[in-house]
Amino acid sequence: MEDIYQRGPLLLLSGRSNRPLALEIGVQLGESPLGVTIRDFADGEIFVRIDANARGRDVFIIQPTVAPAETIMELLLMIDAARRASAARITAVLPYFGYARQDRKDQPRVAIGAKLVANLIVAAGADRVLGMDFHQHQIQGFFDIPVDHLYAAPVLTQYFERLDLEEPVEVAPDVGSAKMARGFAKRLGASFAIIDKRRPAANVAQILNVVGDVEGKTCLLTDDMIDTGGTLAQAVHALIERGAKEVYACATHPLLSADAAARLGDSPVKEVVVTNTIHVPEERRFQQLKILSVAGLLSRAVRYIHSNESVSQLFEMRDQDA
Ligand code: R5P
Repeated sequence: MEDIYQRGPLLLLSGRSNRPLALEIGVQLGESPLGVTIRDFADGEIFVRIDANARGRDVFIIQPTVAPAETIMELLLMIDAARRASAARITAVLPYFGYARQDRKDQPRVAIGAKLVANLIVAAGADRVLGMDFHQHQIQGFFDIPVDHLYAAPVLTQYFERLDLEEPVEVAPDVGSAKMARGFAKRLGASFAIIDKRRPAANVAQILNVVGDVEGKTCLLTDDMIDTGGTLAQAVHALIERGAKEVYACATHPLLSADAAARLGDSPVKEVVVTNTIHVPEERRFQQLKILSVAGLLSRAVRYIHSNESVSQLFEMRDQDA
């Protein structure tokens, strides 16, 4: 039987993927997440050493597995190091879980990347996962260990509640984000619209139609992630063309790859609100970008998991809200 006293004190560690977020979480928990040495050999091979005593401790390793794939390797090495150092329990804290888009065999001879990465994390020795807004919520089932899956929705919707938008319409930029957008609509007391988007090729978005009344309204587009920004930029243009008064956008994970910053920065979007699950370097920022912190949510979850308290109080938005 799990016993907090047998597990010993908390040990917070961070890879290099998003140290600013890890440091914020550390401040809230009164712990430094930097008790680990991570170096690259000349050829790029990663070396990891935990500098603090990990024996019998409850270890939380913070690492969003955003590209490049080295972030995954770094996480696996940290988990392995903690396991070999006799940690009592290891939780992989994944503010963003990469490879989640490859979650099924939808074409012949493709890999299911999400399951592969989940298998690797479990095989390395993780006992639990703490994640946030997986691309599909069912990905929780890809891990044969307990998963606490948080939603950034409370952080994002609180921001828009404060803006007190007039006659807001919550807009799902595609069918995949409809559930998330419906939850936001309920919380913000907004009406709902959905965009009929097609993907003629990977990373290419094509908008066919907008279903719902947006004319003269303030629209809020909601998605789980922004990659190239194509989906949101096209959606913003489509809504403005159909008479929307103003368009805001929000997403949990700001991948902001390729020319996303220019594409969104040059669009007529009023504001693009994201969270800091992924670190956004200066060169990927643009004028309308606003970054909110999920450190409070994650640090509370770490605290509750460590002390065996229920994490469900943080799930202010559950599936059934959608
Ligand atoms: C799609 O299923 C996702 O929810 C996002 O809409 C998508 O990944 C965004 O990609 P991009 O910014 O490249 O259009």
